[in-house]
Amino acid sequence: MFGLSAGDLGKRILGCGDGPAAFNAVLSKRGGRVVSVDPLYRFSVQEIRDRIAATFEVVLEQTRQNAHEFVWGKIRSIEELGQMRMTAMEEFLADYPAGRRAGRYREAGLTALPFAKGEFDLALCSHFLFLYSEQFSAEFHMESVKELCRVAREARIFPLLELGARPSRHLEPVIGQLQKDGFRVEIKSVPYEFQKGGNRMLRVRSAHQGLEGRVGCQPEALR
Ligand SMILES: C[S@@+](CC[C@H](N)C(=O)[O-])C[C@H]1O[C@@H](n2cnc3c(N)ncnc32)[C@H](O)[C@@H]1O
Repeated sequence: MFGLSAGDLGKRILGCGDGPAAFNAVLSKRGGRVVSVDPLYRFSVQEIRDRIAATFEVVLEQTRQNAHEFVWGKIRSIEELGQMRMTAMEEFLADYPAGRRAGRYREAGLTALPFAKGEFDLALCSHFLFLYSEQFSAEFHMESVKELCRVAREARIFPLLELGARPSRHLEPVIGQLQKDGFRVEIKSVPYEFQKGGNRMLRVRSAHQGLEGRVGCQPEALR
C-alpha cells in the first residue's frame, strides 16, 4: 500500500487510524519502531473483540454486494478475504494489551495528534483519509495532512479513492492547497490494488524536506 522499502521499515513510523490491523504487531516483533493511533484504542481488548464480532459479517456482506468494485487476484474470494482479515485482527488483539502498556497503541485521532514536531520519520494512513470523503470535509483532510506532516518528516496516504471505488472528491483541492502552502506532493503507484483503481498513494513532505528516501515504486503524473 505504501511502497515501503527495507530502509523505510527501520524508520520511526506513526500509523494513523490503524484500527484492528496487524502492521504494528508484525513490525514491532521484527524490531521496528512504530506507534499506532486510533480513537478505537480507548476500548479494552474484550470491547474491541466484541465490536469485531458484531460487524464482521456485515462488512463481508457489504463487500459481497459490491464485489464488482474489487480486484479478485491475490485475494481470490470473499471467504479468503474474511479469513485474512480475521487472522490480522487476531494478531492485533494478541499484541494489543502489551502494546498499549508500552505506548505503541494510543487513543488519539486527526486532526490533532499528541506528538511533538518531527517526532516521527514517516506517518502512514490507510483506509481513512480520502476513503471517507463523503463523511469528512476537504478542510478536515487538509488539516489532517498538515498535522501528519507536523509530527512526521513525510506522510503517505492510501488509497486515493472514496467508497464506491470513485476518485476522492477532495483529492485535487487538497493537493492544490497543499502545494500553495509550500508542501511537496506526489502521487505514486504502488503494487497493492484491491479496490479497482486503488493502487495509488499520496506522498507529502514539507518544502524543507530533502528528496532522499525514494520509495520503491514508479512516479506518476498527477491526474
Ligand atoms: C477502515 S478503518 C482502517 C483501519 C486500517 N488503517 C486498515 O487499513 O485496515 C478506519 C479507521 O479510522 C479510524 N478513525 C476514525 N476517526 C479517526 C480520526 N479522526 N483519526 C484517525 N483515525 C480515525 C477508525 O477508528 C478506524 O479504525
